[in-house]
Amino acid sequence: MLRHLLDDFDLGNDGLLPLLDRADQIKRLRGHADHPRPLAGKSIGMIMEKASTRTRISFEVGIYELGGMAVAMAGRDLQLGRDEPLVDTARVLSRYLHGVVIRTHAHERIVTLAAASAIPVINALTDKFHPCQLLADLMTVREHLVHKSGPSKGRHQDLSGLRVAWVGDGNNMANSWVLASALADFELVLACPKGYEPQADVLARADGTRRGRRIVTDDIDAAVRGAHVVTTDVWASMGQEEEREVRKRAFAGYCVTEKRMSLAAPDAVFLHCLPAHRGEEVEGAVIDGPRSVVWDEAENRLHAQKALLELLCSPARS
Ligand code: CP
Ligand code: NVA
Repeated sequence: MLRHLLDDFDLGNDGLLPLLDRADQIKRLRGHADHPRPLAGKSIGMIMEKASTRTRISFEVGIYELGGMAVAMAGRDLQLGRDEPLVDTARVLSRYLHGVVIRTHAHERIVTLAAASAIPVINALTDKFHPCQLLADLMTVREHLVHKSGPSKGRHQDLSGLRVAWVGDGNNMANSWVLASALADFELVLACPKGYEPQADVLARADGTRRGRRIVTDDIDAAVRGAHVVTTDVWASMGQEEEREVRKRAFAGYCVTEKRMSLAAPDAVFLHCLPAHRGEEVEGAVIDGPRSVVWDEAENRLHAQKALLELLCSPARS
């Protein structure tokens, strides 16, 4: 049974597709009288130790629409910001709340928080993983490559058979794609500059499952050729601001251009978790062009996280 969502593997091979099916259903039910309200009378805490637009707002709105109340807290406003131990914070929050969503720096912090919590903990991004974003990304891929017409229609119902190209930094998003490729059994080609590949322990965990396939290369065109999904992220993530100039040089050329998109499958889609830097990791003509599904992807954060909250915090579990 899913207790926390700390990284993508917590869902289990059999947990992902039912969750995405439920997210599709919840999306259709939005605004209808029979929309579920499993959080009625419940409060979910949200600790944000980094900036956020999509994650914070989609969780707050999602919790409200599920009948609950969101208690949003900036890390610096809590006693945590004055060195109260994370473990003590976890114990206290467990006495008030029915779940905690946290965006933080080192992944170890969320592991520590979850170990001391009596309530579900959801990773809203750490330096290592961003599993909630992957739920929305895979939901969006299914919407565009399975449920809509086109050459790939019907081919990726269970996501296996998919070829995904990641272009750029081997960061938290790339690490989550690596785990997702094993979970959903698809091929992931990561084009990263030398020294900026996804973390070796994450690749090893994924390879250990013998599911899916992962190729790491510095050949961007080879990665994108024939891909059904092309995706990228910023060159400098939150917390790496001081490396921005060094990274600009290291990532020069690691840009998803229109020319490169023409190498992908005929109905390939472009994803980006956002925020984006046009002219760096992606050309404006791509992110604002016909292959881009980034606004659906951003919207799907709401629906996918509602399905996740329902699963983790439903009345049956209280
Ligand atoms: N994609 C994403 O997590 O966006 P925010 O940083 O705005 O939450
Ligand atoms: N890799 C980015 C993702 C932002 C949603 C970051 O960590 O800043």
